[in-house]
Amino acid sequence: MAYTARLTKAVFPVAGLGTRFLPATKASPKEMLPVVDKPLIQYAVEEAYSAGIRHMIFVTGRAKRAIEDHFDTAYELENELETAGKQALLELVRSVQPDDMDCSYVRQPRSLGLGHAVLCAEHLVGDEPFAVLLADDLMVGPLGGKPVLAQMAQVFARERCSLLAVQEVPLEHVRRYGIVAGDMLGNGLMDVRRMVEKPRPEEAPSRLGVAGRYILTPGVFAQIRNQPRGAGGEIQLTDGIAGLLSQERVLAFPYAGKRYDCGSKQGFLEATVELALQHPEVGTAFRSYLQTLKL
Ligand code: UTP
Repeated sequence: MAYTARLTKAVFPVAGLGTRFLPATKASPKEMLPVVDKPLIQYAVEEAYSAGIRHMIFVTGRAKRAIEDHFDTAYELENELETAGKQALLELVRSVQPDDMDCSYVRQPRSLGLGHAVLCAEHLVGDEPFAVLLADDLMVGPLGGKPVLAQMAQVFARERCSLLAVQEVPLEHVRRYGIVAGDMLGNGLMDVRRMVEKPRPEEAPSRLGVAGRYILTPGVFAQIRNQPRGAGGEIQLTDGIAGLLSQERVLAFPYAGKRYDCGSKQGFLEATVELALQHPEVGTAFRSYLQTLKL
């Protein structure tokens, strides 16, 4: 099937339990944890927006109301800021939801896995290609270059098939990723032939791990539906994509930029320190502070 070149919809699965961040995630969503001054989900939404996407679809669950509130108008706050003449703050608050951006929400009643979460968005996505962004993977594009999803949207406009963002990972970390293997094409892309979720190092077909950015064709929905429950009784997105491989072309795209695994404490702390160092307001003072630490 020939798809249009332009992506219009992004799905944000945010219904996971965030157990690695308990107790912080007992009553608040992991995706609302701030890195410096912005919640993780806002970084991901801004990335989708800068790739030209205007319809954001959130797959939410219990205790995730704060995400809906974050992307809604905050009348009382805006009134207070306006009355107090705090124009810059008012603009900052309003910029979270630009006028031309639409948000839709659908609930995943139980955390049955990432594949199941994506399937919950099927009726909102319809029969067109869409992006999937996992907000706990905070992606930073190269200095002065395009954000990761914008890089992928550009490749999609040319290739018109499913695309997986990949990076080379150390062998001892392959069990944390969906790992792909296939044929390298001349243009830096890989024609994916195999995909395995969280393999043991000795069973990994390569060291190319999938990061939390995907562009998928709607054919993936039928594939997810047809999969038996995978690792941990969950319905895995990886298994759905693996099913797609025998039907359609799927390409792996080694993105330019850096990924912070903010679903883990270590990755979250690394993101916090590095983004704080680059922050226009606190960067300089924070750097001086770090230099005083006897590490
Ligand atoms: P993770 O496995 O990293 O998130 O899923 P988690 O389950 O929330 O975290 P831990 O492992 O318990 O600490 C990756 C993404 O998929 C979403 C999560 O919200 C996260 O953004 N997800 C996962 C769902 O939306 N539904 C699910 O059933 C599982």
